[in-house]
Amino acid sequence: MRGGTVINSLIVCMAGFLPVSTSGQTTIRRLGPGDEGIVRLLAEDEPKTLLLADERTIFVAAFDGDTPVGFAFGYELPRRHGAPTILFVYELEVDEAYRRRGIGTALMTELRRLSSATEAFVLTEPDNDAANALYASLGGTRVETVMWDY
Ligand SMILES: CC(C)(COP(=O)(O)OP(=O)(O)OC[C@H]1O[C@@H](n2cnc3c(N)ncnc32)[C@H](O)[C@@H]1OP(=O)(O)O)[C@@H](O)C(=O)NCCC(=O)NCCS
Repeated sequence: MRGGTVINSLIVCMAGFLPVSTSGQTTIRRLGPGDEGIVRLLAEDEPKTLLLADERTIFVAAFDGDTPVGFAFGYELPRRHGAPTILFVYELEVDEAYRRRGIGTALMTELRRLSSATEAFVLTEPDNDAANALYASLGGTRVETVMWDY
C-alpha cells in the first residue's frame, strides 16, 4: 500500500469478529505511547510515531518472543450517515519468514476486535494475491473502484 500506486480494488469487510488466534509463540498486542522503538523496528525508514498517541488509530503488532514480526494499523473514521464510525485498515504486513502461519489473519482479527466500528474496509492492489486471498478468507466483499492520488 505504500507509494503512489493507483489502486482499483477495494475490499469491504463487514462486521463479524472472529476469535483471535496466534501461531506458535507469536503474540499480538496493541501498541501505544512508549512503543516507538517497536514501530522503528517494523519500519524501513525512520517512521512517524505520533499515531501511537492517537486514540482513533489502532496499531497492533505481532511478536515472536520480543521480536516484532508483523503489524497492522487502521483509523476509526467518523461518518455522516449509518454507523458512527468505520475502520479504515491502512497497513498490514508480516515479515516474509513468518508468512502463511496465520499471523496476518490474527492481526486483522485483533484490529477489528479492538475497534468499536462495526464496519471496515481495506485497499489493496488487484494483483496482490496474498492480500486479496487473506481479505477474502476473512469474509470481505470485493468492490471494484478507482482511487485517485494527489
Ligand atoms: C498479505 C500478508 C499480510 C498475509 O500475511 P500472512 O501472515 O501470510 O497471512 P495468513 O497466514 O494469515 O494467511 C491467511 C490466508 O490468506 C491466504 N494467503 C495468504 N498468503 C497467500 C499467498 N501468498 N498466496 C495465496 N493465498 C495466500 C491463504 O488463504 C491463507 O490461508 P492458508 O495459509 O491456510 O492457505 C503478507 O503476505 C504480507 O505481508 N505481504 C506484503 C505486504 C502486503 O502486501 N500487505 C497488504 C497490503 S494491503
